[in-house]
Amino acid sequence: IPNKVTNIACIGAGYVGGPTMAVIAQKCPHIKVTVVDINPERIADWNDTDLSKLPVYEPGLDQVVAEARDRNLFFSTDVESAIREAQMIFISVNTPTKTYGVGKGMAADLKYVELCARQIAEVATEDKIVVEKSTLPVRTAQAIRTILDSSTDAMPGVSPRFSVLSNPEFLAEGTAVKDLHNPDRVLIGGEEDEDGQRAMEALVEVYANWVPRERILTTRIWSSELSKLTANAFLAQRISSINALSALCEKTGADVDEVAHAIGTDTRIGPKFLKASVGFGGSCFQKDILNLVYLCRHFNLPEVADYWEQVVKLNDYQKHRFTKQIIDTLFNTVSGKKIAFLGWAFKKDTNDTRESAAIYVADELLQDHAEIHVYDPKVPAVRIYADLEYLQAHRRPQFVIATPTIRGMQSDAPATLSSQEIRQLVHVHKTPYAATEKAHAIAVLTEWNEFRTYDWQKIYDAMRKPAFVFDGRNILDREELKKIGFEIKGIGKG
Ligand code: NAD
Ligand code: UGA
Repeated sequence: IPNKVTNIACIGAGYVGGPTMAVIAQKCPHIKVTVVDINPERIADWNDTDLSKLPVYEPGLDQVVAEARDRNLFFSTDVESAIREAQMIFISVNTPTKTYGVGKGMAADLKYVELCARQIAEVATEDKIVVEKSTLPVRTAQAIRTILDSSTDAMPGVSPRFSVLSNPEFLAEGTAVKDLHNPDRVLIGGEEDEDGQRAMEALVEVYANWVPRERILTTRIWSSELSKLTANAFLAQRISSINALSALCEKTGADVDEVAHAIGTDTRIGPKFLKASVGFGGSCFQKDILNLVYLCRHFNLPEVADYWEQVVKLNDYQKHRFTKQIIDTLFNTVSGKKIAFLGWAFKKDTNDTRESAAIYVADELLQDHAEIHVYDPKVPAVRIYADLEYLQAHRRPQFVIATPTIRGMQSDAPATLSSQEIRQLVHVHKTPYAATEKAHAIAVLTEWNEFRTYDWQKIYDAMRKPAFVFDGRNILDREELKKIGFEIKGIGKG
């Protein structure tokens, strides 16, 4: 097993593989980095000379790609050659929640990871370090090792050796480049034998090109795997905690931002991740917590499982609560009413919409026959329609069950909307002014900075009255908007 590498491959050119490898290539010009994917369109977009076409929108990413691409950073669909040539292979493929069979709706679907391991086993002719970059359940390295070793067993004596490392990624979307350039820590877990130690050394050497050594943590492999799920569970738990309190603030007249500030100044609690919202989204928090819950049930720890599951249930509740407030305020029905959505992405500064609260809020408003008009600075119409269509086919059972359990929110089981119905009721606009014209209400779903800078008087003048604003991110200037004449409701604002 090499303890230094000059050739890296990464399988999966998504939100993690693309930016992570671009930064490794930028910071390590002596290492050739090839990112491969089975999706040819994605690879073509990564190779597009027009950098605005990169498949992942992240502030600063275009400059990193411009610096390293075709120097030592390459994007390709030739998975086999990349595997063959590399000494170190990152697996950075998607690990979504299973939508079928055993563990449906809870466990991580590891079929893509397994396919990568099988492909590496088939193609490799020399020793390789295999790095888990995807977020995986604890003990997945064991499964990868079993697959890799089975190829070695098949050809004893001539076959390559493998070492499996866990190197979870902690970047957040929207700040990926900043996070990668200056991570709080890099975590590397490895096997305890000599090969494992050499492999860890090789990966530490890569990061040490720009990350101070004291921030590169090395652990046992199982600790590293479990730390990733734990980090996401803790982060999401803070959001659900403050969102739970936002409901109490609304009943009592307390202001959730003041409460968050007051508790956040306690250094033991800290100020970050205490922003109340319409609910967390993103491809990972829900998926990773459900995966943790599944693991706890698997290991017969039902109390631990229930504890973490509550974080996701509370998040479902928060999305419903926001929607219910819109319907209640608009005189108990939104049927035929025009609701403008500002934002569709799951957070600002990204074009990613996976699990965005906006999708769930829209779906529930559509169940009540609303007309929805969306403006998002980075999300195209095709994505919005695809998100709504996907939800129709993949509602989580928990989500359906949660609906009638909210007091006063007795409703039918959600109807499945056809693509045609979705297209009739949902309209996507190129400007915020077009989206909000003649609207009965505006819902702010994403915290894009530009939303604060609009001509709110102009928006007010073009809306139906009373003009309601539901600020699901608490980003707008409430006093200013009230002065104009808006009826504004925020999250946790008594
Ligand atoms: P993604 O869906 O954006 O990208 C995954 C890519 O892998 C896709 O382009 C897909 O075509 C490709 N792929 C799948 N199977 C393949 C195969 N056999 N060969 C070649 N390519 C293949 O996913 P992502 O957001 O980059 O997430 C990847 C992993 O990283 C997940 O496990 C996720 O939990 C984890 N993660 C994500 C983030 C994030 O911010 N998105 C942060 C930390 C960790
Ligand atoms: C999150 C973690 O922050 C990363 O460390 C991790 O690597 C990543 O998941 C992952 O594993 O995929 P990400 O989902 O990209 O990153 O973005 P976050 O900034 O964590 O935001 C997640 C969601 O929580 C967003 O919808 C955001 O709007 C919401 N949020 C965040 C709040 O509602 N309140 C907050 O205080 C913070």
